[in-house]
Amino acid sequence: MKILITGGAGFIGSHVVRLFVNKYPSYQIFNLDKLTYAGNLANLADVADRENYTFLKGDIVDAAYLDETFSKYNFDAVIHLAAESHVDRSISDPLAFVYTNVIGTVNLLNTARRHWASNLQDHLFYHVSTDEVYGSLGAEGMFTEETAYDPRSPYSASKASSDHFVRAWYHTYGLPVKISNCSNNYGPNHFPEKLIPLAINNIRNEKPVPVYGKGENVRDWLYVPDHARAIDVIFHEGKVGETYNIGGVNEWKNLELIELLCDLMDEKLGRPQGRSRQLITFVKDRAGHDLRYAIDSSKLMNELGWEPSVTFEEGLSKTVDWYLQNTEWLENVTSGNYQSYYEQQYVSR
Ligand code: NAD
Ligand code: DAU
Repeated sequence: MKILITGGAGFIGSHVVRLFVNKYPSYQIFNLDKLTYAGNLANLADVADRENYTFLKGDIVDAAYLDETFSKYNFDAVIHLAAESHVDRSISDPLAFVYTNVIGTVNLLNTARRHWASNLQDHLFYHVSTDEVYGSLGAEGMFTEETAYDPRSPYSASKASSDHFVRAWYHTYGLPVKISNCSNNYGPNHFPEKLIPLAINNIRNEKPVPVYGKGENVRDWLYVPDHARAIDVIFHEGKVGETYNIGGVNEWKNLELIELLCDLMDEKLGRPQGRSRQLITFVKDRAGHDLRYAIDSSKLMNELGWEPSVTFEEGLSKTVDWYLQNTEWLENVTSGNYQSYYEQQYVSR
């Protein structure tokens, strides 16, 4: 089987590529990535030389490039992760999210449908999406696969739009599709613009740890290898045309999560307990900040037998260890363009 994985040089994509390359030596895995600021081939250094792995540098917004690539490699299936993924960046530059997340997805759907037309049923288009499409919860309730879409940020609006297009290609053209909507991931290779790796990096450097608003927003955190395992199970055993929610059953208020992280890092860095908590700095809230996400993954658990493999304490401890052992990775990705983004995002408040 020849599988095209888009966005494989990013955070989640690199874990999916690694899992598939290692677990399925008979599959040919093609990783198509534009290598934006978030894409980093160092994430895949351990599999780069494998015979069943090929990297393709390309942009999913470029329809002609996709056409040539599908002609050349004749893929059997697509696992689509390429996206602009950071909510704060979507607030300052929404159009970039429309190009990649909406137009890029429609380009991929069009290309796959055209190239697979003679035997559509032998192919699969798997679209990786987010719980943010469901909007924001109050104190109670969880998102199920039936929850009505209610995206509220430019990022979630672009992902919701891409999900609708994927379903439209299933209903209108009969393209075999699957969709999964996952909660917040954390773990190795997470770009340090997102809360957990940004906090780890700042605590390490004894810099202020920015908490938006009062830190009361709630997210449901999942260790990234567990998301990759869920994608593997859904890809192989999920039903065509269906949606699966993926979550960690692990809700945390941002402030409580950051306090836990500060204490864990004090312990690992041999600092006196309580020292890193002094770095916590409340900053201006994110515009339109969704209050709470919580995912009900009982469909995936009951039908396909998936469940998270680690507790949050284990996953967070492994994550901190990874960042403390990979300071060169951190320094590479936080140099250059990232510095000007960071200054714009935080210093102007
Ligand atoms: P990421 O930002 O770390 O990686 C995105 C990757 O896509 C990068 O390697 C980037 O170079 C590539 N890319 C961006 N634009 C491209 C283009 N035009 N053409 C080709 N490649 C392009 O993102 P992530 O956090 O790994 O998220 C991956 C997917 O999972 C996204 O679709 C995201 O919406 C979804 N998701 C993320 C989370 C999360 O917590 N991070 C949770 C649920 C769903
Ligand atoms: O729920 C899934 C989504 O999770 C994915 O679809 C997105 O791609 C991913 O980026 C993530 O979105 P969030 O906005 O929830 O993640 P982020 O790490 O940016 O923020 C997590 C929470 O922490 C959120 O409530 C905002 C807050 N925050 C974030 C940053 C960067 C802070 O308080 N301070 C910060 O500096």
